Amino acid sequence: MSSFKLSEEDAALASQATEDYDLIQVAETIWIAQCSLVFFAMKLRTRMTVLKLEDESGSYLLIHSPIRLTDTIRAQLDALQTEHGTIRVLVAPCGLHHVFIEPYSKVYADAETWCTQDVVKKRKDVTWTGVLERGVNPWWVAEGQLRLALVESATLSEAVFFVEREKVLLVVDLLENLNWKEFAAENCTLKQKMAMASMTLYNLKHKDYDGKLIPGGACGGAFQSPEHQMKFHKKQQHSEGCAIVGEWPFERVILAHGHMLGWTGSVPVRERTRRTLRLPRE
Ligand SMILES: [Fe+2]
Repeated sequence: MSSFKLSEEDAALASQATEDYDLIQVAETIWIAQCSLVFFAMKLRTRMTVLKLEDESGSYLLIHSPIRLTDTIRAQLDALQTEHGTIRVLVAPCGLHHVFIEPYSKVYADAETWCTQDVVKKRKDVTWTGVLERGVNPWWVAEGQLRLALVESATLSEAVFFVEREKVLLVVDLLENLNWKEFAAENCTLKQKMAMASMTLYNLKHKDYDGKLIPGGACGGAFQSPEHQMKFHKKQQHSEGCAIVGEWPFERVILAHGHMLGWTGSVPVRERTRRTLRLPRE
């Protein structure tokens, strides 16, 4: 178990709103950074995660769901490389989290690039090393360090990870924890606001495990993105993927959008994600 520990205050800050492009350490082998973007009419922050992993040649870094590559982020990543090893793997974990990866593949040209099948179709400008799909186990998904599961819906596939050392579940869109009050982008139209309101209302059915809404969370802490909710003919595959994830003994969650779960000790993580991931009652 990691000896690195954030203070309660720092953990709360880390899980919420850090400054854009400020890479911060949240566990002994994990760093995060965020940047803002507008997705349709939604004002969102998206989170990148950097993992320190090891193989027989020593430690190295993996970048998951890269954010916009600014000079600030680049300088901070370079400092990390000096201390913890080179960036050897870049991961675009689903069809919505590939937007910023291309500059990374140029700057860190020796790094392998991995993505899900739906990204391959969208990003022909990137030379991909491998595709994360069922039955594929990349060399960097090593026992004792990382586990991988594919959760598929009708509109996207997401590669979900478990960081064993830190007991951290790493997702992008399988779980979101958005505050609807921060949702609407400036100058969005009434029609767009109505669409967001209906999406929020739709998500209200995913209330907390005991049926209560949690202030500050969109719908009780964590819900599936609309893309994951559209399962249709992939319903079984989605359930199978969630079942694998549900068996992992995670205690904290890093997600791409909204407050992370379990970092201050005040959120019962497995309870809060039980409904979405169909976890068994404990
Ligand atoms: Fe996303």
